[in-house]
Amino acid sequence: MSDATTQNTMQNGPLRHFLQFRDFSRAEIEYVLGRAKLIKDKFKRYQPHHTLHDRTLAMVFEKASTRTRVSFEAGMYQLGGSVIHLTTTDSQLGRSEPIEDTARVVSRMVDLVMIRTFEQTRIERFAAHSRVPVINGLTNEYHPCQILADIFTFIELRGAIQGKTVAWIGDANNMAYTWLQAAELLGFTLHVSAPKGYQLNGKLTGQVASSVLREFDDPMQATRGAHLVTTDVWTSMGFEDENEDRRRAFADWCVDAEMMAVADPDAIFMHCLPAHRGEEVSSDVIDGPQSVVWDEAENRLHVQKALMEFLLLGQLPSE
Ligand code: CP
Ligand code: NVA
Repeated sequence: MSDATTQNTMQNGPLRHFLQFRDFSRAEIEYVLGRAKLIKDKFKRYQPHHTLHDRTLAMVFEKASTRTRVSFEAGMYQLGGSVIHLTTTDSQLGRSEPIEDTARVVSRMVDLVMIRTFEQTRIERFAAHSRVPVINGLTNEYHPCQILADIFTFIELRGAIQGKTVAWIGDANNMAYTWLQAAELLGFTLHVSAPKGYQLNGKLTGQVASSVLREFDDPMQATRGAHLVTTDVWTSMGFEDENEDRRRAFADWCVDAEMMAVADPDAIFMHCLPAHRGEEVSSDVIDGPQSVVWDEAENRLHVQKALMEFLLLGQLPSE
């Protein structure tokens, strides 16, 4: 029997991972979002919610983080569990221990693993040899926990996202590909505008219906009428060598007040953070009244608590 099919005795139900957004069905995403609301409401009322008492989360960071680390670590403690924090440099991963061996060992000692790494294939290899659920805390290809938080934030502030339009302005990166998966699953439209050479790769997206994805050369056209305008750094982690080329290529892809003015009058602005004011977004937009970036960041905590609970306990009856 392979490691992946070996059932962890501490877990109810089949082994599940959250490596990309479409690993969950629409109903499962909706359950997690609903549960996140309950967990957030209890958190705001200082009501204990210790559903993962005595469970342990291992976090493996092969790239830097502020929000992902703090939200997973605080979240697991708030659920009654504990956390182990590993990085490439302070573990044997930095001395070329195979990721498969790391997965075999770590997953015998903890209940849940969150990994931030480079290629998606690396987290897939870990998951294939893990006895416990694995969560993608960002790879080069996807950032599903962030999009879960972004969708939670949209629904919290504006209601259902189905039928709405999200404008992605800038690099077709891990965030953009995850937005696309979410649009397909949840039934909203994604407008994408990126400079030539940095657009979505059709080999990775496959055939996508025009009701789900529309691509634009002009970022103003992509933003027109959008209910949510969102962007990200021009250079993602791992691509720093391309920084100067990207600065030149992306110069016209700054979300500024002029761009926000053509969006829906009730539009909100999101950014997963960290942000570079004056590059992908102007200060008056990210620090202005349409920006919801601090709610968006906070909601990482609440949705990931719901996600960890779901992966370990399955669907729980409503309280
Ligand atoms: N948005 C996000 O994932 O932030 P960190 O890189 O700080 O974790
Ligand atoms: N696209 C960015 C997101 C950072 C949270 C990166 O991968 O660096």
